[in-house]
Amino acid sequence: MNKYFLTTPIYYVNDKPHIGHAYTTIIADVVARYYRQKFGFDNVFYLTGTDEHGAKIAASAVKAGKTPQEFCDDVSDIFKSKWQELNLSYNHFVRTTDKQHEAVVQEVLTRLKSAKTPLGNEVIYQGEHEGLYCVGCEAYVKPEDLVNGKCPFHNKEPELIKEKNWYFRLSDYAEILKEKITNKEPRVLPEQRETEVLSFIEHGLEDIAISREKVEWGIPIPFDPKQTTYVWIDALVNYISALQYPNGDDFKKYWPANVQFLAKDILKFHCLIWPALLLALDLPLPNTLFVHGFFTLNGQKMSKTLGNVIDPSDMVAEFGVDATRYLIISQFPFGDDGDVKQNDFVTKFNADLANGIGNLVSRVIGMTEKYCDLTVPEKQFTAELNLSEFWQNIDRNYQDFKINENIKAVWDLISWCDGYIDSNKPWALAKEGKQTEVEQILFNLLEIIRNISLAIEPFLPTTAQKISEALNCDLNFVKKEEVIKPKTKLNKVEPLFLRK
Ligand code: MSP
Repeated sequence: MNKYFLTTPIYYVNDKPHIGHAYTTIIADVVARYYRQKFGFDNVFYLTGTDEHGAKIAASAVKAGKTPQEFCDDVSDIFKSKWQELNLSYNHFVRTTDKQHEAVVQEVLTRLKSAKTPLGNEVIYQGEHEGLYCVGCEAYVKPEDLVNGKCPFHNKEPELIKEKNWYFRLSDYAEILKEKITNKEPRVLPEQRETEVLSFIEHGLEDIAISREKVEWGIPIPFDPKQTTYVWIDALVNYISALQYPNGDDFKKYWPANVQFLAKDILKFHCLIWPALLLALDLPLPNTLFVHGFFTLNGQKMSKTLGNVIDPSDMVAEFGVDATRYLIISQFPFGDDGDVKQNDFVTKFNADLANGIGNLVSRVIGMTEKYCDLTVPEKQFTAELNLSEFWQNIDRNYQDFKINENIKAVWDLISWCDGYIDSNKPWALAKEGKQTEVEQILFNLLEIIRNISLAIEPFLPTTAQKISEALNCDLNFVKKEEVIKPKTKLNKVEPLFLRK
């Protein structure tokens, strides 16, 4: 069946949303919109949300002088409103404090308690452990992973903790995980991430604690209510609780996920622990786990302490919604690490949006007004440009999540149009009275612009809408093969992006 289920990580509410979180969420939105065009609105489920339990969140609530629940409600609302501001079209926003989610976590734990590993052992057992715990990661860390005694992700010294906990027998899943990942079930992309995951398995998988003794802000373990669920187990379950696992219609329709997006900081949780949990629950594994890189800002890690965190709303105020989406995702190839240079935002805005697509659309509509009474000429498409090849390429790139290749493909088309206008000079032809030739050129350009509006819809949805209104045609992917209709009266268009 043609359905598509995609997820982002659920974000910790101890941090306000910044453009790092927005990055993953916008990419997922692009992919969701593309598949809605392909499979229809009712066959795509795009999930995001907030991760609200654990020691780190409880400590942040105390600091803010609020109860954990009040604190989570407030920050979760901020995430929602930022995502709405960015026109992110998620279908469901899951919160780990949702009663329904909490019930599913308990259901999952109950099932795990009676399950057996592939080696015939109990999946869950009780054990005692002493180790270094990084509250930032909400995970035990190994001394060899530390840099100068500090967690490299959070720049903080971990605490030594000793607890009696429930354990998940991850070690028994090493072989089967190796086999599944090598067979690309799931595909771990980009490929170097698959190698990384396999090398973790080679080095040996340790069992993990799935409960906490001394953390109150969490979901009680159903068979040992004095303990709470380890926040990562709680969080991972969101991907199925949001679909109403085990009996919900959404679960039946949408699981397994087509793609789950995450960044490299949480690779082990998603590419090892999550698939192992699913195997223990006897559930199919996601088709693709896409592990993207981290971006730095002006060469530095974004952090509250450095004070260089960009709030997406500030960008929206400066550039508008569509441009913000575009500027955040277009700086470097999806998957890689990259640096976002704030100074480049204005340059890129002017080059790609104001002078690029904005200028092309104004020019072509302007010429159609001047030379063809703002009406699509009665011609057929004759440009030496293979639009079906363009679309095949777009489709292929989406399958591999090569989002930036698609952005490039659109901008190549824009440059092609600019070149086509400059070399054919419709204004000169009009002066010479060559009206048929002018009409032919404008027809070709209008048809290409219609295709451009469809292709940009996933990342520049409002701009696509404005273009399709100007062209007076449906922004309808199902009809993308239908050529623009001759004699259609066009609408004048305001500049799409004003040069800065
Ligand atoms: N709550 C966990 C995830 C649980 S999922 C079951 C968590 N939350 S987080 O708030 O720390 O979000 C991490 C995610 O935010 C990264 O995996 C990535 O998707 C996104 N990013 C946060 N900062 C980022 C950058 N600077 N660059 C790219 N992505 C960034 O981990």
